[in-house]
Amino acid sequence: MTLATLYMPKSLLIVLLIFVFTISAISVSNDGDPVAKTMEDFSGYPTSESESCSSGSLSSLSVDTQSLQRQIEELSSFSDSPAPSVTRILYSKKDVLARSYIKKLMQLAGLSIREDVVGNIFGKWEGFNSELAGVATGSHVDAIPYSGKYDGVVGVLGAIEAINVLRRSGFRPERSLEIIFFTSEEPTRFGISCLGSRLLAGSEPLASALKNTVDSHNISFFEAARSAGYAQDQDDLTSVFLKKGFYSAFVELHIEQGPILEEEGISIGVVTAIAAPASIKVDFEGNGGHAGAVLMPQRNDAGLAAAELALAVEQHVLESGSIDTVGTVGILDLHPGAINSIPSKSHLEIDTRDIDETRRNNVIEKIHQSAVKVTKNRKVQLSEFKIVNQDPPAASDESIIKAMEDASKELNLTHKLMISRAYHDSLFMARVSPMGMIFIPCYKGYSHKPEEFASIEDIANGVKVLALTLAKLSLG
Ligand SMILES: *[C@@H]1O[C@H](CO)[C@@H](O)[C@H](O)[C@H]1NC(C)=O
Ligand SMILES: *[C@@H]1O[C@H](CO)[C@@H](O)[C@H](O)[C@H]1NC(C)=O
Ligand SMILES: [Zn+2]
Repeated sequence: MTLATLYMPKSLLIVLLIFVFTISAISVSNDGDPVAKTMEDFSGYPTSESESCSSGSLSSLSVDTQSLQRQIEELSSFSDSPAPSVTRILYSKKDVLARSYIKKLMQLAGLSIREDVVGNIFGKWEGFNSELAGVATGSHVDAIPYSGKYDGVVGVLGAIEAINVLRRSGFRPERSLEIIFFTSEEPTRFGISCLGSRLLAGSEPLASALKNTVDSHNISFFEAARSAGYAQDQDDLTSVFLKKGFYSAFVELHIEQGPILEEEGISIGVVTAIAAPASIKVDFEGNGGHAGAVLMPQRNDAGLAAAELALAVEQHVLESGSIDTVGTVGILDLHPGAINSIPSKSHLEIDTRDIDETRRNNVIEKIHQSAVKVTKNRKVQLSEFKIVNQDPPAASDESIIKAMEDASKELNLTHKLMISRAYHDSLFMARVSPMGMIFIPCYKGYSHKPEEFASIEDIANGVKVLALTLAKLSLG
C-alpha cells in the first residue's frame, strides 16, 4: 500500500480494495461451478485458497445440505405433538429449547448474539463498515398446533446457512449482516400474530395492549415471557422498537405456502408485495325457541343472519373486480348449538385480504352495510361488529427486488415475480426498513399441517439466492 492511500477518504479506499480483489479474483479460474463463479465474481474474493486444491474449496462453497436437513429434523423434535407434526407455542419449554438450539447454531456461525425483552434474537456478522445501517434477514420458528417443520424454519436455519455459505466463499460484508429470529409470528398463544416484528416496527398500541394480555389459561404475557427468561426486570416494551433506517434492507426466505411455484416448475419466487390482512368479529342476537313450536313468520334466527352475511362476504369479495381480493368466514358459531333449538346468537369471524388497501377497506365497509341490512331483514341485533386488525399491505423495495432477481439469474435459477397472499414478519419489517421476500416451492402448497414439505434442493436454491442477495445488499 502506498503512502498516498493513507490519506485517501475511507470510502475511496474500500472501493479501491474491492477493485483490487475483483481483479485478483478474475485471475483465479472457476469455470466449473456456476455458483462458485458467481459468488466469486460478485464478492470479489477468490473461493479457492490455491489452485491445486480448488475442487475441494469449490464444493465447500455450495450449501451444506446434509447439515441443513439434519438441523431441520432436529429443530422439529422440539415439539409438543408427535412427529411428523410440529407444535411449538410461544415461551413453552419446547420454544425455549428451540431458541437455545438456534443460538448455538448462530454461535457456531460466528455471529454475535443479542436478545430483546420479548425474545427476538439477533445474530450479527459485523461488516467492515459497521457504521453503515446493516442488512437483516430472518423468520420465525414458532409453529401452530399440528403443523409442519418448514414454515418459518427455512428462513431461520436457511439464513444461518447463507451466512456459512458466504463465509466459506471468502466474502466479507461491508454492511453488517444480521439474522433475526422473530418472537411469535403465529397468533396461537396470545391471539396476536407477528408479535415480535410488530413491536420491532414500533407498535405503541401493541406495547400497551400486552400489559393486559393473557392466554387461555389466564397467564399474562409478561408472566409467560419471564418463564422463558425474558422481560426479567421491565414491563416497558418500547426498548424493542427499531428506529426507521436501523436496517438498510430486510429479506425473508420462506416456503411459498401456495402451489404456484411447484405447479409451474419454478425455483424462486421474488415477492413484490404482501397482501394486507384484516379480521372482523361479528355477533348477531335474535330470539331462540323450540325448533318445532315457533312458526317461521315469528322467528328472528341469528343463525340465518350469520349465513346471509357469510354469503354477502363472498359476494362483496367477488365484486371487487380483482382476483387479489379474498374473504373467508372461518368461524361460525351458533348458540345454543342444539338441533332442536333456533339459534339465538351467532358469532362469525371474517378474514379479508388484498394487496390494495383501499379496495380491501371498501369490502369491509360493504360487509358492514350488509350486516346492518341483515339485522333489518331478519329482525336480529348486531351486537358486535369489531374490526380486530386492519393492517396495510406492504410493497417490496425495488432495489431489493432487483437484487433478488439478479441473484436468481446469476445462479441460473428460474424465478418469477409474485405476491405473498399469506402475511409474514416482513409485512411489519417493511414499516421500518426496505423489504423483500424470497419464496421457494413447497409440496402442493401445503402449510400449517404435518404434510408440509420442501425438498432440500429447493431449500438449498433459496439459501443460495438469499446468500447472494445479502452479499449484494451488504455492498450496496
Ligand atoms: C386471571 O388472573 C387475574 C390475576 O391473577 C385474576 O384477578 C382474575 O380473576 C383471573 N381471571 C380468571 C378468569 O381466572
Ligand atoms: C442453466 O440452466 C439451463 C436450463 O436448466 C441449463 O441448460 C444450463 O446448462 C445451465 N447453465 C449453467 C451455467 O449452469
Ligand atoms: Zn411463516
